[in-house]
Amino acid sequence: MTTLPPEPRPPLPRFPANFLWGVSTSAHQIEGAVAEDGRGRSVWDAFAAASGRIKDGSDASVAVDHYHRYPEDVALLKDLGVDGYRFSVSWSRVLPQGAGSVNAAGLDFYDRLVDALCEAGVRPVPTLFHWDTPLALQEAGGWLERDTAYRFAEFTDVVAARLGDRVGRWITLNEPAELTMLGHALGEHAPGKRLLFDALPVAHHQLLAHGLAVDVLRTRGSGSIGIANSHGPTWAASDSAEDRAAADFYDLLLNRLFADPVLTGAYPEGIAELLPGPVDDDLRLISQPLDWYGVNFYQPTRVGAPDPAAPTEFAGITVPPELPFSVHPVTGVPRTAFDWAVVPEALTELLLSFRDRYGDSLPPVVITENGCSYDGIDDQERIAFLDAHLRALHRAMDAGVDVRGYFVWSLMDNWEWAEGYAQRFGLVHIDFEGGTLDRTPKASYGWLRDALRAQR
Ligand code: FCB
Repeated sequence: MTTLPPEPRPPLPRFPANFLWGVSTSAHQIEGAVAEDGRGRSVWDAFAAASGRIKDGSDASVAVDHYHRYPEDVALLKDLGVDGYRFSVSWSRVLPQGAGSVNAAGLDFYDRLVDALCEAGVRPVPTLFHWDTPLALQEAGGWLERDTAYRFAEFTDVVAARLGDRVGRWITLNEPAELTMLGHALGEHAPGKRLLFDALPVAHHQLLAHGLAVDVLRTRGSGSIGIANSHGPTWAASDSAEDRAAADFYDLLLNRLFADPVLTGAYPEGIAELLPGPVDDDLRLISQPLDWYGVNFYQPTRVGAPDPAAPTEFAGITVPPELPFSVHPVTGVPRTAFDWAVVPEALTELLLSFRDRYGDSLPPVVITENGCSYDGIDDQERIAFLDAHLRALHRAMDAGVDVRGYFVWSLMDNWEWAEGYAQRFGLVHIDFEGGTLDRTPKASYGWLRDALRAQR
């Protein structure tokens, strides 16, 4: 990895005064303490222990020990000067069996965290589900079962009852697309199912869970509600009709399958028939108006017609030849340590395509994740990445897209799912090698702090 020298950069363009600047994390990736204070097991505990799919053979049983060191992390948030902190609530910490009796000690942890954030002047933005399904629910069928959506609504009610007096912004789900595709279609993530298109009910049941949770939060009078969906432009590998059709299909799976029902109350043509129902009734719940729509953006995807003779790879994942598309590298652009393509213009393109596709049905947008994996503490590449993506975001705003906030993924290095501890997305370095888990702000942390000061 070459280190770039610091570059003199013009100041960022000015964002609106009430723009929400934040950073994101998720429970399973940072908390550790997996067997403490009554926490139940989640699918990711089981998957890390038994699947053999975690690249460095690690698990998240300690992670960055945020469960114990959260005061230090809140202090880092305060010094950074962000307005908001997006974290997730571990369902199995609060309801060890996924349903039924509440684990008071688990709920107390989030209560302490929210108090500490409020005291530090950082707004808590909890995500209610970031992939860590309680194992007991998985054993009863997990997201393939409609019941899981109702259990999620009950969990939402428990959390909102406790934290709702101090939390003004909620995120229901993180990236239902990834849980469907990586977790249930391709088997690369927990729970490790390889169902290909038979995974579609998982998408619908998560969206139903989202709709039910919106209902619960509204009933409790909880202010501002959004979802964090992952999206990216899909580019055809060539101009051929076959490649264009394959790219359109991929766009349908990644973007429209999860945005259309939420924003328009309908699934893309041909999908609703494949889903367990009652789909029409469910869609009324799923499409209740949101206060804002969260977009997680990392990179565009280049997609071509399937080629059974030459299976392709994307982000280290082999695309099975029986799928109706192949995935190709975006070439001629810088790449992160994770080999993800760095294409800031694709963020502008994505947001403009959402404006054009959804028009008035698109509520204000918040970028709920954007970031990159690079090694090192003098992470000039990360600064270049964030700087370029913020400019790209500003261009979309200049073109009329109503964007209200931007959250960097991530506050600190953490357990990056099947990649283990190898991919470092943090603004803060964590000493995994030495085992001290010491927090050291990287160059990008200082850059963001200065950029936020300059905005104010
Ligand atoms: C997103 C996930 C997040 C993290 C980043 C790198 O897909 O929501 O937990 O893994 O990618």
